[in-house]
Amino acid sequence: MSRRSATSSGHPKVCACPSGLDPYRLPNHVAVIMDGNGRWAKARGLPRMVGHRAGVEALKRTLRLCSDWGIGALTAYAFSTENWSRPGDEVNFLMTLFERVLQRELESLEREKVRIRFLGDLEGLPLGLQELISEATELTVRNNGIHFNVCTNYGGRRELVLAAQKLAQRAARGDLDPTLIDENSFEAELLTAGEVDPDLLIRTSGERRISNFLLWQLAYAEIHVTDVCWPDFDEVALTQALFDYQSRCRRFGGLDPIAANHLGS
Ligand code: IPE
Ligand code: IPE
Ligand code: MG
Repeated sequence: MSRRSATSSGHPKVCACPSGLDPYRLPNHVAVIMDGNGRWAKARGLPRMVGHRAGVEALKRTLRLCSDWGIGALTAYAFSTENWSRPGDEVNFLMTLFERVLQRELESLEREKVRIRFLGDLEGLPLGLQELISEATELTVRNNGIHFNVCTNYGGRRELVLAAQKLAQRAARGDLDPTLIDENSFEAELLTAGEVDPDLLIRTSGERRISNFLLWQLAYAEIHVTDVCWPDFDEVALTQALFDYQSRCRRFGGLDPIAANHLGS
């Protein structure tokens, strides 16, 4: 089901997205690697932490735009399992920032009917942050607005290993026939279970890599890389990403419908 088309009244929602974009061909799910906070700050002669703070504003902006335009889900990469290798000061700053922002924004997330979830190894996070995450998740679980997934202490490889472990445990208990493990049963053990795969992946700051993000789920995502650093990501940059997305021909291994018609004729 396309959440994009669902409204509380049950009528299809024609979104208020920028003119020129086809509101019926927006991605259902946008994933974003929010990169370049540090370089944004450095270019301005500011400490990296200022870049992270500005990055929060960019995320709030992006969430609001996606929600207003009728995109069903936004998944943002906030902290990877590899980001612990950064200097302690930066890691501590980021953890405190996540906690403060979540506390401050909880009311407005609830008001906007956002359903927030945090994906990653949450037990590895500071206790105060874990508690807030539980509170935010429980408070918004029944909200019917945009699905907002924040990947925190997230690693795609770890997610896959944990899914394999869970299946193996079930098999060892005799609850699962290993020969019956298929893509659906594997997917059901992922942190994103129940969410449609991202249609569009945006990476900011010009880097052209996945950096251990959603390794399974991005199998057929369209990839848009922009040189804009994350703190500058705005309506113009999102609109460009969506135009780029709508210019693609998604074949999923099959044929372009136009080419297929020619073959048949
Ligand atoms: C992304 O910005 C934020 C996190 C990874 C937490 P960076 O901090 O990676 O910024 P750059 O890549 O150093 O510019
Ligand atoms: C990816 O950015 C992780 C997040 C945005 C949270 P990084 O800055 O950590 O990625 P690399 O090190 O450039 O691959
Ligand atoms: Mg980076």
